[in-house]
Amino acid sequence: MSQSPGPFRRTMPSRMAIGPLGRIIAQIIVPAIAIIARTLPAAYAAALENARKSGTANEASGDAARRGASFLGKARMSKDEALMVLNLTENDVSVETVRRQYDRYFESNKVENGGSFYLQSKIYRAKELLDEYVKEKEAEGKQRVDGGGRGEGR
Ligand SMILES: *[C@@H]1O[C@H](CO)[C@@H](O)[C@H](O)[C@H]1NC(C)=O
Repeated sequence: MSQSPGPFRRTMPSRMAIGPLGRIIAQIIVPAIAIIARTLPAAYAAALENARKSGTANEASGDAARRGASFLGKARMSKDEALMVLNLTENDVSVETVRRQYDRYFESNKVENGGSFYLQSKIYRAKELLDEYVKEKEAEGKQRVDGGGRGEGR
């Protein structure tokens, strides 16, 4: 019970040990569920949840690389997914609406606003893809008008 003087009495660095770890756990677990539910359309949250579930199933078949690419936002997005990400429908899509929705969601998913790079990259990809799609659609539309077609294209 000899109480050593100062230099030998070390206090456990318990706060330091728990602090960063707690933050890391929160960063990994919380964003996936809570943030999506709050800032993205419900339909898209459901789609992500499905993708996550099937992703788990795919792991066994060595799909990890593709999932990794998708996580980094490098995989090509489908138009339907892009529409969901930006909460638009096929009929809403225009240069204007895409930019407006992009600004809104990109801003609200900033990391400092409690978002994540993952979601931001999704939002960015979605804008990129829909901008392209709008351009194609406009070019097609002009051709159609010039050609006098009714263009119920389906
Ligand atoms: C998505 O768009 C609909 C219709 O414009 C709107 O009512 C809804 O609040 C939007 N959802 C989100 C999460 O912004």
